[in-house]
Amino acid sequence: STVGKVIKCRAAVAWEAKKPLSIEEIEVDPPKAHEVRIKLTATGVCHTDAYTLGGFDAEGLFPVVLGHEGAGIVESVGEGVTDFKAGDHVIPLYIPQCKTCEYCLNKKTNLCQRTRVTQGKGVMPDGTSRFTCKGKQIYHFMGCSTFSEYTVVADVSVTKIDEKAPLEKVCLIGCGIPTGYGAALNTAGVEEGSICAVWGLGAVGLAAVMGCRAAGAKKIYGVDINPSKFDLAKQFGCTDFVNPKDHEGRPIQDVLVELTNGGFDYTFECIGNVHTMRAALESCHKGWGTSVIIGVAASGQEISTRPFQLVTGRTWKGTAFGGWKSVDDVPKLVQDYLNKKMLVDEFITHTMGIDKINEAFDLMHEGKSIRSVINY
Ligand code: APR
Ligand code: ZN
Repeated sequence: STVGKVIKCRAAVAWEAKKPLSIEEIEVDPPKAHEVRIKLTATGVCHTDAYTLGGFDAEGLFPVVLGHEGAGIVESVGEGVTDFKAGDHVIPLYIPQCKTCEYCLNKKTNLCQRTRVTQGKGVMPDGTSRFTCKGKQIYHFMGCSTFSEYTVVADVSVTKIDEKAPLEKVCLIGCGIPTGYGAALNTAGVEEGSICAVWGLGAVGLAAVMGCRAAGAKKIYGVDINPSKFDLAKQFGCTDFVNPKDHEGRPIQDVLVELTNGGFDYTFECIGNVHTMRAALESCHKGWGTSVIIGVAASGQEISTRPFQLVTGRTWKGTAFGGWKSVDDVPKLVQDYLNKKMLVDEFITHTMGIDKINEAFDLMHEGKSIRSVINY
């Protein structure tokens, strides 16, 4: 058995920013108190990984094992861990849920602060790392580090799921899908009969479309400059499409307000561009429209609009991880998938081994993938 021992395994290590990942043998230490060591089965590749690897994150630390959209099986647990045992099927969580902090006790937010400081420093809650490679300490990423065959996470940063769920699919319930889906259901609170619009038809946007449909929206517009996304988006619930490139010379918000006789009940920005954030707000209906920001803009960027937009009854909101309380809600989302209430398989356009992980980044940059899943 590997319990209590250092495990040697393969991982994709980011030695420095702007360089491809390199496949290395790393050492993964046993879990300390209140930690869980997981044998990962699969991981998605998300924009936040690319953002950090691209050196855009001023706080990005290297060398690091990236990845935060994974699923796997518990290998062993540290002292004091009561909720997990070897063999449990789990999803690591980049937003924990400790159930005791001020944020966890407030039903208005999901932003548990328990691991915030150490997670931002790329270490476990005790201030140290469980990864080494070639004699060097390797940083953790977003409390997950799923680009490795084994990882160690805090016991508040993982949740147990139904063993019937295929891990190579439900790994996507670790980030992109809940983010968009929850933005519609939790943050916006879309109602039956609503008219909605979603900017950006990547994984996050398609999940927002799916959330709008689940809430009973009457019409769901997809807004994207890449029309090759439109066909797939129909499967998720899009009823209408607008390509801003077909309306150059006119602000897209003017086009959309006209097209809908006044604007949308709910809009969602799933790109991370401050200009489309403004367009999404200003496409909302006067008096009641709500716009939700989901996309992550580059650091230092600022949003703007005329304050009269808000004075006249529009609401601007934002959300992380779709507002879901991670430990409690992720297993429920897995059930929704098993009960065919929520799509997951349809998001996966490519699968590959860890040795091909750099191709997954290329596909994402070229806009050719919705999600690539790495199978270990
Ligand atoms: N107007 C309309 N659509 C655009 C524009 C624009 N100016 N710029 C990009 N798009 C479209 C792209 O064509 C693409 O289909 O937005 C979509 C973005 O999809 P992905 O790149 O696949 O991104 P996704 O994984 O869905 O993440 C979206 O959420 O989590 C954050 O950091 C992530 O900010 C990113 C966002
Ligand atoms: Zn908490």
